[in-house]
Amino acid sequence: MDVLHIINIKMSIENKIDKGKIPKHVAIIMDGNGRWAKSRGKMRLAGHQEGAKSVKKALEVCGELGIKYLTVYAFSTENWNRPQAEVSGLMSLLVSSIDKEFDEMNKLGIKIHVIGELDKLPENAKKKLLLAIEKTKNNDKLTFIVALSYSGRWDILNAVKSVVKDVENNKIDAKDIDYNYFEAHLATVGIPDPELLIRTSGEERISNFLLYQLAYSELFFTDVLWPDFSKEVFYQAIIDYQNRERRFGKTSEQITN
Ligand code: FPP
Repeated sequence: MDVLHIINIKMSIENKIDKGKIPKHVAIIMDGNGRWAKSRGKMRLAGHQEGAKSVKKALEVCGELGIKYLTVYAFSTENWNRPQAEVSGLMSLLVSSIDKEFDEMNKLGIKIHVIGELDKLPENAKKKLLLAIEKTKNNDKLTFIVALSYSGRWDILNAVKSVVKDVENNKIDAKDIDYNYFEAHLATVGIPDPELLIRTSGEERISNFLLYQLAYSELFFTDVLWPDFSKEVFYQAIIDYQNRERRFGKTSEQITN
């Protein structure tokens, strides 16, 4: 395929996007790094390294379309049970990715944010992340949320414990707890719920990701493995999302009238 043909395909995908219906928040389960590596006879870590490049592509699309929040599932609570070499390799990759990409992300106005049990991370990774969060806290073009040592059940349980503490300390009466109050105790406080969740690699499940926050998200599954993720796949997911009818429990007639 010649370059002109590729540009034409890209332009025709881009033209299908309704700029007035861009989701504010997209969440991604970046799956398939291991399979990508295995199919090439490489170590699993090579898949994660290639996957880090896809994160950059996803951030670029958010910039192009004006998506304000991107959350990526980089390391789940359950991922601590992987072989030690893979866990430490992933932590090192995280630190080196921040080192490599920080200046450009900062220049692009990206605010870095982390959700999850930061205290469980190795000290150097935690320090690096806290510094990146502090240095980018006033950026407002796009918030890049990295879910690290995160799980949806952990998030909900943590919020429940925190709300119970508030009740015990007479900060609130139990009968006055509403959704707003509860949500302010989740790791995602201040961040709108994702309108769209993308999962790569052909698996079709939530895997303990943003269990509370995904209540009404549109789900987009693709067979593409995360290291092969391209801007075109992301654009395709947005087009698909824009063609869904989001009813939030109402009838179709109520939505269209
Ligand atoms: C899931 O694929 C992927 C992960 C557990 C790690 C994702 C991490 C990165 C892409 C590293 C870069 C991240 C940032 C934020 C710089 P898998 O290993 O479960 O794949 P498999 O199902 O094919 O084995």
